[in-house]
Amino acid sequence: MTTGDNSPVPDFLSRLRVDGRTFVVAGAGVGMGRMTSHALVQAGAKTVVCVDVDADRAAEIAAEIGPAGVAWVGDVTTREGAAKLAADAEAINGRIDGLVDIVGMARWESILDMTDETFDWEIDICLRHAFLLSQAFGRLMSKSGGGTMVFIASVSGFTAAPMHAAYGAAKAGLMAWVQTLAIELGGFGIRANAVAPGTILSPRMEAVFNDEQRALNAGNAPLQKMGATSDIASAALFFSSDMSAYVTGRTLVVDGGVDAKFPYPVTL
Ligand SMILES: NC(=O)c1ccc[n+]([C@@H]2O[C@H](COP(=O)([O-])OP(=O)(O)OC[C@H]3O[C@@H](n4cnc5c(N)ncnc54)[C@H](O)[C@@H]3O)[C@@H](O)[C@H]2O)c1
Repeated sequence: MTTGDNSPVPDFLSRLRVDGRTFVVAGAGVGMGRMTSHALVQAGAKTVVCVDVDADRAAEIAAEIGPAGVAWVGDVTTREGAAKLAADAEAINGRIDGLVDIVGMARWESILDMTDETFDWEIDICLRHAFLLSQAFGRLMSKSGGGTMVFIASVSGFTAAPMHAAYGAAKAGLMAWVQTLAIELGGFGIRANAVAPGTILSPRMEAVFNDEQRALNAGNAPLQKMGATSDIASAALFFSSDMSAYVTGRTLVVDGGVDAKFPYPVTL
């Protein structure tokens, strides 16, 4: 207490704790999803439903995080899958406190050659599940006193995404979706936010990047390195915890500073 301020001081670090809460991580099998599952358990989560379309991956991550892990296998881009996941997850502890939706993927095709199939696939894998899951879990959370939703977008939704225009458009749509979600569901105590990763060295990127591409991407970032999947998990934990209690409808860019750079040639 000071002379001019007698408001109580909270225990700030406890705001990162999610003790006793139940979370669903969609796309939990590898990379950002795996790290987010660990982050939530380390912060005290009672249950983390580890969702993956790949049965082995779901089982492995659920086992790896210990007694809090529950494997769930299915495709969250379908209405049936999303509805079954919500019902199964609710049945475990009677309520869901948080959703982290990591599912997303990009194909590289020029606009002039892009097929209808690719365009539809990108909308499904980057945007449709956000609609389906936020609706299903929003209905549950609005009845049970609120919760948090976190979606993984991409910097490709902010600036031109060469050779993956449909991916960029879907991720931009995802960030717009999160804003409206936050506005419509805020009154129920539900917060919705997104994380926009830059280049992250996930297992999938590890497999496709050669040494030259790694050096190029690292050198392009003011922090002079590519991101780690744990960097995205840290942002997901922030949005899933009370540390971000007054933040909703926002996208946090986690890109090593690339987006902060002046995008025009400097001629002085
Ligand atoms: N890696 C990067 O540089 C980067 C950059 C920007 C954005 N992102 C975004 O980050 C997210 C994670 O990307 P990644 O490459 O690390 O993940 P990934 O594709 O390697 O892993 C995601 C997990 O989701 C599972 N999955 C896929 N489709 C599913 C479905 N329909 N239902 C349930 N589970 C499903 C996969 O089996 C996998 O285990 C994506 O949304 C991606 O668009 C990645």
